[in-house]
Formats: sequence, C-alpha cells, structure tokens
Amino acid sequence: MKKVFLLAVAGALVFSLTGIDLIEAMKMPKTVLMNASVGKTKNPVYAPVNFPHQKHLKLGCPVCHHKWTDKKNPPKKCVDSGCHDILGAKGAQMRAKNSAYNAFHNPTSNHSCMGCHKNKKKQNLATGPIACKKCHVK
Ligand code: HEC
Ligand code: HEC
Ligand code: HEC
Repeated sequence: MKKVFLLAVAGALVFSLTGIDLIEAMKMPKTVLMNASVGKTKNPVYAPVNFPHQKHLKLGCPVCHHKWTDKKNPPKKCVDSGCHDILGAKGAQMRAKNSAYNAFHNPTSNHSCMGCHKNKKKQNLATGPIACKKCHVK
C-alpha cells in the first residue's frame, strides 16, 4: 500500500515537470508589437504590426515556433540571428528563407502570417487579414 502511494507521488512530480506546466509558467504575450523592421526597410508604411498572440494559441505552438525545442526557455524571436535575420531585403532576396519578409508573407508556408491566413481562406475557415494595410495599420 505504501509503495503504491509513493509511486503516485512520484508520478505526480514527474507530471508537474512536463512541458505543459513549463509553458503555463512562461510569460506568454497577449499581443506583440512587431517592429523589428522600423528603419530597416524603405517601406516604412508597412511596419509595425500589432500581432494578437493570444488569439492564435489554439493553432498550437509549433506551427509558428517551428524550431523551438528547448521548452525550458521561451522560443527565439522570428528575426533572431540564425533565423529570419535579413531585414529590409529587396528583390529576389525577399523570397529567401532567412529574410524577414519571407517569414511573414511567404504565400505557400503555413508558418507565415500570410501563408496561413491564405490557407484558411481557401478552406473557408475563419482567418486573419491578407491585405497589407489590415496588418500594417498606421
Ligand atoms: C498577416 C499580417 C501581414 C500582412 C497581411 C502583411 N504583412 Fe508585411 N509584415 C507583417 C509582419 C508581422 C512584419 C514584421 C514587422 C516588423 O517586425 O517590423 C511585416 C513586415 C513587412 C515588411 C518589412 C520586412 C523586412 O524585410 O524588414 C515589408 C516591406 C512588408 N511587411 C510589406 C508588406 C506588404 C507589401 C504587404 C501586402 C502585400 C504586407 N506586408 C502584408 C505582417 C503582415
Ligand atoms: C500564429 C503564430 C504563433 C503561435 C500559434 C504561437 N506563437 Fe508564440 N509568438 C509568435 C510570434 C510571432 C511571437 C513574437 C516573436 C517575435 O517578437 O519575433 C511570439 C512570442 C512568444 C513568446 C515571447 C517570446 C519572447 O522572447 O518575448 C512566447 C513565450 C511564446 N510566443 C510562446 C508560445 C507558446 C507556448 C505557444 C503555444 C501555446 C505559442 N507561442 C503559439 C507566434 C506564435
Ligand atoms: C497557422 C495559422 C496562422 C498563422 C501562422 C498566423 N495566423 Fe493570424 N490568424 C489565424 C486565424 C485562424 C485567425 C482567425 C482567428 C479567429 O477568428 O478565431 C487569425 C487572425 C488574425 C488577426 C485578426 C484577429 C482579430 O481580432 O480578428 C490578425 C491581426 C492576425 N491573425 C495577424 C497575424 C500575424 C501578424 C501573424 C504572423 C506574425 C499571424 N497572424 C500568423 C491564423 C494564423
């Protein structure tokens, strides 16, 4: 009987140390003002963007935080070094995987704001803005 009790306590302890609790403990932004491109692009009209993070959580973390493995720490920022770190790309470079422009507008990737919004629209599901000025609100 004692053994069973101890096992239950150990089980509860292991459970409380799983990723789920760590995620709940993590400070999750309700909204994020995305403004890394300010001053880096010749298109100042298009930045910054107010991103409603909380409204997206039900889609699951990995669809956006697609390189996030170390769940003990918050995910990296989109434009952190080694990720989508080319800001203010022009021409063909805009389509490069590591450009910030591509991260947010790639029309065929479900990781990108624009790509996912377009996908949902195609499937007739609730979706977010696709028009430039709906995200880049002045
Ligand atoms: C679903 C939201 C969304 C839509 C729609 C959208 N954008 Fe963006 N865009 C973003 C986000 C988020 C950023 C990052 C802003 C920042 O960090 O400064 C961004 C950044 C940019 C940048 C700067 C990229 C860089 O290299 O620094 C440009 C230019 C841009 N958008 C142009 C456009 C144009 C043109 C359209 C319409 C075809 C458009 N955007 C539509 C979300 C959107
Ligand atoms: C639709 C895309 C999307 C989804 C889904 C999403 N996030 Fe995010 N999250 C973002 C973006 C974009 C940022 C801002 C990153 C930046 O500033 O470059 C962010 C920021 C964060 C931050 C703050 C990071 C920092 O350093 O300030 C945390 C923590 C976070 N997300 C956790 C989560 C967790 C946990 C989930 C799943 C329950 C989740 N996110 C789901 C897109 C998303
Ligand atoms: C994987 C899919 C996905 C990605 C990636 C995604 N979104 Fe969305 N977004 C949605 C869906 C679905 C909705 C509609 C949510 C709802 O109505 O419940 C939405 C809604 C929105 C809205 C409108 C919220 C409202 O109050 O009506 C904005 C603004 C928005 N997204 C911005 C962004 C930006 C900026 C990014 C990138 C940083 C982004 N989204 C990335 C799926 C996505």
